[in-house]
Amino acid sequence: FHDFRGTKKLDETLEKMVAYPADFYKVVSTATTLADNVTMIKFLARQGDRHSLVGMCMGEQGIISRVLGVRAGSVFTFASAIAGEETAPGQVTAQELRNVYRIERVDVATRVYGVAGDPVAHSLSPAIMNAAFRRENVNAVYLALHAKTLKDLLTCVREIPIHGISVTMPYKEAILHHLDNTDSHTTKIGACNTVVRAQDGNLYGFNTDASGIVRPLERRLNTLEGARILVIGAGGAARAAVFGLKERGSEVYILNRTAGPAKKLAHQARARIVKRADLKKLAFDVIINATPVGMGNTRDTPLQDKEINSRYVFDMIYDPGETRFLKLAKERGAQVIPGIEMFAHQAARQFEIWTGKPAPWDEMLRVVLLALQERSNRSTSSK
Ligand SMILES: NC(=O)c1ccc[n+]([C@@H]2O[C@H](COP(=O)([O-])OP(=O)(O)OC[C@H]3O[C@@H](n4cnc5c(N)ncnc54)[C@H](OP(=O)(O)O)[C@@H]3O)[C@@H](O)[C@H]2O)c1
Repeated sequence: FHDFRGTKKLDETLEKMVAYPADFYKVVSTATTLADNVTMIKFLARQGDRHSLVGMCMGEQGIISRVLGVRAGSVFTFASAIAGEETAPGQVTAQELRNVYRIERVDVATRVYGVAGDPVAHSLSPAIMNAAFRRENVNAVYLALHAKTLKDLLTCVREIPIHGISVTMPYKEAILHHLDNTDSHTTKIGACNTVVRAQDGNLYGFNTDASGIVRPLERRLNTLEGARILVIGAGGAARAAVFGLKERGSEVYILNRTAGPAKKLAHQARARIVKRADLKKLAFDVIINATPVGMGNTRDTPLQDKEINSRYVFDMIYDPGETRFLKLAKERGAQVIPGIEMFAHQAARQFEIWTGKPAPWDEMLRVVLLALQERSNRSTSSK
């Protein structure tokens, strides 16, 4: 039985099917919300002992049931032999089920984590996090959770249960209202990208974006104490960078398109504001781009070459891997740090918060660079 519209009346459907003897009863629905997976998983748990059942939800949001269905009571699951030959919406390849999600190792003790946002289809987080869990032998699996509402996401967090989430656009601020507590750093930033579900069910929020900035810089500069750092932008990511760098004792300057957010951030963090017209006269140890300018193209840059007077230039953007800003910076003789390092280090910090183990960040960076490379090869070959 396949329902291509939704997930409903699963027990009634099965009741009609069992009137006919069969080796397996396959009940497949479509997830239109994340919570539909909860309905399917509960159905499998309820009926799996009585009948030989195969059950899962189709659709992008059905990934939870595709990975967790077997532990809930599905006798087996479906996957495509090769990419491009999927036989149902949301189906993943057998290789992905085995190598990324390690489905053969998912058992009742497996902890579930995920990246939650809207959209999340192109997220690199499942690749990087599952690689880290595998490397450190952590019994956990990490999924892409396409949450169209926060309510839907929070239902799954409670019911599956999900032990931790990486929060991405557009929920980094809104999720704060649903947490039981946040650390002071996250409260100051006003955005949360990491949630931990404690044993008592309480939700705790953290922000690891600052680690994504501070760690790659500390690996290059001996200390950030006293370093003169220009942050371009005053949104969520810039706020994380500014507070993180101020905590390390850096001298932080802010440049933003709109005065209001820059003034507010400078005041809160005790940083200084810079006018673009003054840039040619100023030199920095590091310049960080925390705006989306340059994302998805090699044309736009937040600064022109003569405005780049810095030893290091760090672009938060990771697609393309080398932005126009980084190219100009190299030509000016600066050392450059691509956004993918921020991505890997903020993920590494999440891994540490969730597992209490040091993160295999070099392996994480290797895996995510490979995933980016594969993505760019795919898009070149499809053009
Ligand atoms: N590598 C990573 O792991 C990582 C992590 C987090 C974020 N990021 C990247 O960091 C960037 C910022 O993210 P966010 O979450 O901070 O976004 P956000 O909260 O929307 O803030 C965007 C900032 O960029 C400025 N801006 C936007 N468009 C601009 C333009 N055309 N010209 C000049 N300034 C412009 C905005 O200035 P106004 O105040 O004038 O609007 C604002 O200060 C994004 O590209 C994101 O992908 C990367």
